[in-house]
This record gives sequence, C-alpha cells and structure tokens, in this order.
Amino acid sequence: MTSPLYQPPVSLPRLNAPPEAQVLIRRARVGDIPRLYELINYYAARGDMLPKTLDQLYNKVRAFIVAEAAGEVVGCASLHVTWADLGEIVSIAVHPDFQGRGLGRLMVEPLLEEARELGITTVFALTLQVGFFSRLGFREVPKLHLPHKIWQDCATCFKQDRCDEVAMIRQV
Ligand SMILES: CC(C)(COP(=O)(O)OP(=O)(O)OC[C@H]1O[C@@H](n2cnc3c(N)ncnc32)[C@H](O)[C@@H]1OP(=O)(O)O)[C@@H](O)C(=O)NCCC(=O)NCCS
Repeated sequence: MTSPLYQPPVSLPRLNAPPEAQVLIRRARVGDIPRLYELINYYAARGDMLPKTLDQLYNKVRAFIVAEAAGEVVGCASLHVTWADLGEIVSIAVHPDFQGRGLGRLMVEPLLEEARELGITTVFALTLQVGFFSRLGFREVPKLHLPHKIWQDCATCFKQDRCDEVAMIRQV
C-alpha cells in the first residue's frame, strides 16, 4: 500500500553546489531526509530504483551515508541488515551533476566496512546498475540465492510480478 506521505517529485533537485566542489562523505542526519526523498524518488519515477516514503527514510536515517558538496547533499546510499549473514545496499543515488566522479564507490566502501564490522559475511544489491556494482566487486547470482530478501521484501514490492532487477552479491 502507498503511504499518504508519498508524492513522487517530477523534477530533479536543483543544486547550487558547483560540479567541481569538494565532496565530503558522512553519516546522514534527519535534516538531509527531504533531499534524499527528492533524489531517490526522482530516479524512482524514471524506473531506475524503488521509491521511498518520507516515513521510510526517517525510520532508516541511521542506515544512510551521504555525499555532501558545498553544504548540499548530492548523493546517498544505505546498508540494511537483512539477516544474520546478509546485508543489502539500498537506495544508492548520485545527482547527475556529480556522477562519474567516484562518489558511488566512496559511499559503498564504508558501508561494506560497516557490514564487515557487524559480522555480516555477504552484501547484496537488487539493481539495474550491473556495471557499477561489478566494478565494486559484486557478481550476479540468481535471485533465488537470496531467500530472505525474496520472502521479506519482494512479497510487498510493486515490481513483484515484473521484477527487472538483477541480484548481485559480494563477500565482505
Ligand atoms: C549508479 C550510481 C549510484 C553510480 O554512481 P557514480 O558516482 O556515478 O559511480 P562511480 O563514479 O563511483 O563509479 C564507480 C565505478 O563504477 C563504474 N560505473 C559507474 N556507473 C557505471 C555504469 N552505468 N556502467 C558501467 N560502469 C559504471 C565507474 O566507471 C567506476 O569504475 P572505476 O572505479 O573502476 O573507474 C549513479 O549512476 C546513479 O545515481 N544512478 C541513478 C540511480 C540508480 O540507478 N541507482 C542504483 C539503484 S540500485
């Protein structure tokens, strides 16, 4: 069911940060959530990733890492713990003005380190960005290799009957 708080934005978040601005990777704060909501749902409206509601993002704020340039959030990514041995990279997005500069990698690497510290042995992603995750050491696997994910989240996903995402895993 769609939350009443969810209204997909149709336009890209406007940035004041110049593309050459220096970028800081840090933990997310609650004040970042409106920008994360815009960024994620901009891509979700294009079919690139799954949408998130404001309440989902506030609930998961401690799982997020962000990329900040000139005081503005220009990217985000999160690690969700799925099971005793399994974590997932969720909601990774970089503003188009800042893509191709290594920000995606810079956000995923600390999340993989965090997974390792938590004792998680495998991190996965369900994604259309196979090239990106391959460069970060992930490999494609059949979705049935991810039973907990399939049973917990896919059961309520709107893409359930026409899922086009590729399952990719990496040992950490
Ligand atoms: C996917 C995304 C997060 C990548 O962010 P990015 O900051 O541009 O990626 P990086 O610059 O860190 O790229 C890291 C590596 O992946 C490679 N890469 C990135 N996107 C790629 C693609 N589409 N195809 C092949 N390789 C790719 C880069 O060349 C780089 O390789 P290198 O480190 O060996 O030189 C970004 O394109 C994005 O926000 N896309 C839209 C939202 C989306 O689809 N999110 C994924 C949801 S699961």
